Amino acid sequence: MPTVTAMRVLVSGGAGYIGSHTVVQLVAAGHDVVVVDNFANSNPTVVNRLEALTGQHLPLHAFDLRDVDKTEHLFAHDRIDAVVHFAGFKAVGESVELPLEYYENNLGATFSLVRAMQRHNVDKLVFSSSATVYGAEAPVPMTEALPTSATNPYGWTKVMIEQVLRDVAAARPSWRIALLRYFNPVGAHPSGTIGEDPADIPNNLMPYIAQVAVGRRDKLRVFGNDYDTPDGTGVRDYIHVEDLAAGHVAALAKLTTTDASVSTWNLGTGHGTSVMDLLHAFERAVGHELPYEVVGRRAGDIAASYADPSLAQKELGWKAVRTIDDMCVDTWRWQRQNPDGYPSA
Ligand code: NAD
Ligand code: UFG
Repeated sequence: MPTVTAMRVLVSGGAGYIGSHTVVQLVAAGHDVVVVDNFANSNPTVVNRLEALTGQHLPLHAFDLRDVDKTEHLFAHDRIDAVVHFAGFKAVGESVELPLEYYENNLGATFSLVRAMQRHNVDKLVFSSSATVYGAEAPVPMTEALPTSATNPYGWTKVMIEQVLRDVAAARPSWRIALLRYFNPVGAHPSGTIGEDPADIPNNLMPYIAQVAVGRRDKLRVFGNDYDTPDGTGVRDYIHVEDLAAGHVAALAKLTTTDASVSTWNLGTGHGTSVMDLLHAFERAVGHELPYEVVGRRAGDIAASYADPSLAQKELGWKAVRTIDDMCVDTWRWQRQNPDGYPSA
């Protein structure tokens, strides 16, 4: 790992699932962290838990990043060195129902943030992109060189923001931008005090299984077992959120030394895990079988998605080290300790 230059880092969406885990690791790496979040999809309790975990006071700005005046005010009154930008809406199905809301929020928050950065000469940015930018037809393992596309408005916001950021960097030679393409983040902090807390019925596999295990859902519905995969169920590259958080710390450090204006890195393990494999790993963590039923395919799903993570390993010296069993054990600890998620604010 490169030597860390301590920075004052603004974390947008720092109360969210991935942002919160990254805040802990940024503080542990010696950075000063400032959080901005409007709690559109998170809970203010997270900040108290982050302060307990880090032993530090975390300055919190609770506003919508699309508020240009408030964003400008934040940068005018604080000396920010770099931004890690998680804030955005992320539910694929909801984005199909509410496309304008997704374009407005994800693009609008980014425009406001980048404009304030430009005005205040903050030129280091780490952006949360997604493997979804590889579209529906990409061969596996997926490399950063593949063309980008999308199949839903959420995915298009990621494709579009990546392009906006490439154009900003091209216009401003001092800028250093990391586009981090996450595969499937799961797991929780080993303390069990922070984790993923879906506001509604979970869309994603791991939180759904965890809610079945804790008794909040009757059974898992497996969306299709007739894919061209070893057991017929969908294959994904699940990555522990702690490994993902470490990837952000490494990417941020790299931005202080690289000559490249824009760097794109896959953050995945490189291993594919099927729905049934993940269910069985969770059963091992819980210690008993969990009910499931095979139902039809979910519209828009692809058979298999997993990363070629070798570029991040080579350029960042970063590698995901946690196993599927680690991911399930840590998710289960979080779910068991917080059966109903965070207490309402
Ligand atoms: P999350 O919803 O838990 O966190 C996002 C945070 O941003 C929330 O706390 C929300 O309140 C905040 N936010 C949203 N819009 C805002 C706005 N306009 N102003 C201020 N705050 C705002 O999501 P997450 O899982 O932590 O994802 C973080 C980022 O990573 C997102 O950009 C997401 O698209 C991306 N990503 C997530 C996944 C995944 O599976 N979780 C996969 C790939 C990429
Ligand atoms: N699945 C089930 N039952 C469920 C939920 C999911 O069988 O209740 C299956 C899916 O069919 C798929 C696998 O579990 O085969 C993983 O599904 P997830 O919804 O957990 O993850 P996806 O890969 O479909 O989607 C994730 C993110 C998206 C992102 C996409 C591509 O949630 O935001 O990866 O990067 F766009």
